Amino acid sequence: MKRREFFKWSVIGLSTMAASFPAYANAETKKTWNCINNSNDTETIIFVPDLKESVSFLQISDSHISCDDESDTEYLPYSKRMGGGSVTKNRLDFFDKLLEKAKEKKVDFIALTGDIINYPSATAVKTVSDRLKQSGIPFLYTAGNHDWHYEGMEGTEEELRKKWIEKRLKPLYQGANPMCSSIQVKGINIVCIDNSTYQIDEHQLEFYKTQRSQPEPIVLLMHIPLYMFSLDIFSCGHPDWNEKTDPYYKIERRLPWPKEGCSDTTKQFVREVWATPKLLGVFAGHTHQARTISVSSTNGIQHIAGPALNGQYRLIQIRHYKPQ
Ligand SMILES: [Fe+2]
Repeated sequence: MKRREFFKWSVIGLSTMAASFPAYANAETKKTWNCINNSNDTETIIFVPDLKESVSFLQISDSHISCDDESDTEYLPYSKRMGGGSVTKNRLDFFDKLLEKAKEKKVDFIALTGDIINYPSATAVKTVSDRLKQSGIPFLYTAGNHDWHYEGMEGTEEELRKKWIEKRLKPLYQGANPMCSSIQVKGINIVCIDNSTYQIDEHQLEFYKTQRSQPEPIVLLMHIPLYMFSLDIFSCGHPDWNEKTDPYYKIERRLPWPKEGCSDTTKQFVREVWATPKLLGVFAGHTHQARTISVSSTNGIQHIAGPALNGQYRLIQIRHYKPQ
């Protein structure tokens, strides 16, 4: 597949708001979709009944690379705790090895699901972008909570994310909308949504609803896992997520999570995703612990990749099968 063909971003369409669901669980799901999902900590194979071509991708999450030179010195007061002023050589080596693996496995693309770098230094962004470009493999990127975070800077999470995406991270998006984007790869709709503040805004919710209404099956890429029963507070849409349960805001020198918890649009987004009729899977990172969890009342399955900072990854293969 030619690179140019791969990167045709879909136009963001808006639809009117659907009536809100009364509760988190038990969202209506049509049981018309029978994909088979087989997974362990590093590999996921999804069998899809009416797929024409196989698709594969390598997920890289949480490589947490720090990489500075003299030009980043003025930001040292904001990056010191996360390794500012140093280069995490071993993590860069792991990153290189994973790019090699992607090449060796001949994947269609690499999915970078956030916390690729520890803070948005110009040197780190350039180092990572150069390596990705040199690999020649198409890649998709969605940010994690560390990628845009300089600790101790004034501003809300939303303001700081916007500022540092614009100022530093932009090359990693290659023209895609950083907040929400989608791309068709061999008949599969790969959707990226930024939930690195743990929140989903109205525009992102509308964007997802539009994607959900398309006929193609969906792969959803995000940094923070979506709330499902058995996931802890570090998941997006958790009912107990609020100022009182935020353990790290002082250490990370940022504003605490909001008093009122997550927004209605965030809660509705979670319900919309788990009620998506043709959802092949949600692929997230953030918790640094590889696992696969399913929502029993719907067809939702979520995979969390282990951290690339010690060489972990997830290889995803989506293949055709013939129902018996
Ligand atoms: Fe994270």
